[in-house]
Amino acid sequence: MKTIMVTSGKGGVGKSTTAVSLATELSLNGNKVGLLDVDIHGPNDHIILGIEKSEIMTDGKHFQPIEVGNLKFMTIAFAIEQDTPVIWRGPLKAKLIDQFVKDTLWGDLDYMIIDFPPGSGDEPLEVLKIYENKIDAAIIVTTSQKVALGDVEKIINFLKKSKIPIVGLWENMSYYTCPHCGARHYLFGKNTDELAKKTNLEVIARIPLIPEIGEKFGSAFLYLTRSEGDVRRKFQDAVNTILEKLELSF
Ligand SMILES: Nc1ncnc2c1ncn2[C@@H]1O[C@H](COP(=O)(O)OP(=O)(O)OP(=O)(O)O)[C@@H](O)[C@H]1O
Ligand SMILES: [Mg+2]
Ligand SMILES: [Zn+2]
Repeated sequence: MKTIMVTSGKGGVGKSTTAVSLATELSLNGNKVGLLDVDIHGPNDHIILGIEKSEIMTDGKHFQPIEVGNLKFMTIAFAIEQDTPVIWRGPLKAKLIDQFVKDTLWGDLDYMIIDFPPGSGDEPLEVLKIYENKIDAAIIVTTSQKVALGDVEKIINFLKKSKIPIVGLWENMSYYTCPHCGARHYLFGKNTDELAKKTNLEVIARIPLIPEIGEKFGSAFLYLTRSEGDVRRKFQDAVNTILEKLELSF
């Protein structure tokens, strides 16, 4: 099994959308995939997947992940609401997450995708400690504003120090294609290349802003499972690039 973490230096850039997309594409290709949301700041993968938290089953000892096709899903959102904020402080929090992950009945998996908390502060560090030595690769999600890139560089350096192999930069909301004239508008500039060069990483995806995710489909998961075409193909290409890189480097 390959364990892939999805993170960013910044919140709101599309980490969860990317984690769900990656897991969904892999599972649509026939792989057995686990998706785990441990973004303790705002776990919302279940919303993107259209799953009610109350659907998560436990027998008091084990958690049964929710199955969506070949995809098995579990979220820390479930544990967070059940506990008082006090329990979630410091090392105890890390221990609880550790327990939560271990007690989930994943079964046999080809890939485990983990939606990590953003940044390089105490919280991601604690969560990272749980997974150290278990992560095969990291995907860094970014948008291309100058203001995002400084934070993203920090997490890249942090992961390099932790000796976690980084597959590359996943640029989200790269551009918007005008439905009237067909022109591409680079709303946030084109600054990711600069960061790629500086950190010696490849840009493995340039996913445009896709208004249909919200307007027509309501979620990235429904968009991916129900649409075809050039934009959808960008997700497939990105996943193929990731798989190629995993084969190359491990
Ligand atoms: N390529 C895209 N096109 C259109 N909408 C998008 C795209 N990527 C993300 N979004 C939307 O932007 C919002 C934020 O995305 P998402 O929740 O994935 O970000 P995040 O980095 O996980 O945020 P957080 O830091 O809060 O966890 C969501 O409403 C999502 O549907
Ligand atoms: Mg998120
Ligand atoms: Zn136009």
